[in-house]
Amino acid sequence: MNKVDVLLGLQWGDEGKGKVVDVLTPRYDVVARFQGGPNAGHTLEFEGKKYVLRSIPSGIFQNNNVNIIGNGVVLDPILFMDEAKALEQSGTDIKKILKISKKTHLIMPTHRRLDAAQEKAKGDSKIGTTGKGIGPTYTDKISRNGLRVGDIFSNFEQKYAIAKAKHIATLTQLGGDTDVAELEAQWMEAIDYMKGFDIIDSEYVVNDLLAQGKRVLCEGAQGTMLDVDFGSYPFVTSSNTITAGACTGLGLAPNKIGDVYGIFKAYCTRVGSGPFPTELFDETGKLIRDLGHEYGAVTGRERRCGWVDLVALRYAIMINGVTKLIMMKSDVLDGFETIKACTAYRINGQETRQFPFDVVDGELEPVYEELKGWKTDMTSMKSPEQFPAEFNAYIDFLERELNVPICIVSVGPDRSQTIIRGEI
Ligand code: GDP
Ligand code: IMO
Ligand code: MG
Repeated sequence: MNKVDVLLGLQWGDEGKGKVVDVLTPRYDVVARFQGGPNAGHTLEFEGKKYVLRSIPSGIFQNNNVNIIGNGVVLDPILFMDEAKALEQSGTDIKKILKISKKTHLIMPTHRRLDAAQEKAKGDSKIGTTGKGIGPTYTDKISRNGLRVGDIFSNFEQKYAIAKAKHIATLTQLGGDTDVAELEAQWMEAIDYMKGFDIIDSEYVVNDLLAQGKRVLCEGAQGTMLDVDFGSYPFVTSSNTITAGACTGLGLAPNKIGDVYGIFKAYCTRVGSGPFPTELFDETGKLIRDLGHEYGAVTGRERRCGWVDLVALRYAIMINGVTKLIMMKSDVLDGFETIKACTAYRINGQETRQFPFDVVDGELEPVYEELKGWKTDMTSMKSPEQFPAEFNAYIDFLERELNVPICIVSVGPDRSQTIIRGEI
């Protein structure tokens, strides 16, 4: 049976998913997003240019492919229009190669306002969301109040007015901003723009394409540790970012899942609040941030930085059924004397290799293994034969600890800085 492959983040997002999807796209006919929305910022670099995609799949630069926004995604028409028009201007025939599910939920202007108001109401315990209305839109989906892309063709104004009135009531209670007139005008214009796209029953289309033997790649957003069920709740996003999310977010039966590519950085980052066991507050953390340019692709926020966390990675590999690993940004560590990897946690004196239900500040201490750095500029390397011995030792160590092969190593942001070292 022909199966889909899934590519997703194993940490707290921003692992480099966009770059790798773009690199792998020539091997696929279809690239599909299955969850998340414009909270994502997927960066691609090639031919001296940089692109950041939020809602549109990262396969969009290969003109022969089909790109699909699945039912599990939440779409903001305004941001979608901005993104799509920019691509049109740069010569991509987007209306021809992008399809949108009728069942994709719409982010309304009032969802953005609710996101802001709810964050404000949480005070010090705020999540640090991207402010894009993600949580409120998924809340409406689950509470059966949402608007879907397929709704825009009939009686839409009325459906919109009903949903908006509910939001305004909640915003008034929360003391949030209820003035959406300007945003609303843009939003309605964007809804009209969306009508020019192929709006489809994506579950049928994806399954039909698979049955025809087409190769399909499902592109995850966020990361496993931000998953609403298995991440560091409540400091998570509002969707299932894991392999199972590809099933519900595209209408794929579990037996249609083939390879699962799990992406991780050679270190670790997180943006927003919440537990981060290996976070570094010292000069090393600052150095990683500077060398790795660790600032959010969407919000520009500083990303928190720390050592790679093998406890969290093993957990993510288990939950996702990862078959192949991809290691990103190892070049950021090129100049380091030594590199640390967290192999276990010590909680109240007891060592564990499991990710705990709750990470309480001050109670958890990471147990580190220290490895020798390779101290070599790897950014222009082209093949694994060029790898320094210490780098090979680092990879061997990770593969032993994680029990999954590392098939791709990324040594820089450009498409060309990608080294295949195993079967992909
Ligand atoms: P995504 O959300 O998972 O697609 O990742 P982001 O695009 O938010 O963040 C990854 C950042 O790292 C982007 O700025 C990429 O251009 C950059 N990047 C990706 N791979 C590498 C790499 O191997 N080395 C370096 N130095 N940068 C990389
Ligand atoms: P990509 O796809 C990193 C984080 C936010 C916040 C939490 C909830 O680029 O890897 P939300 O707006 O989703 O309600 O915010 O999740 N977050 C991300 N962090 N990368 C992302 O996406 C993220 N999407 C959401 O910072 O902590
Ligand atoms: Mg990102």
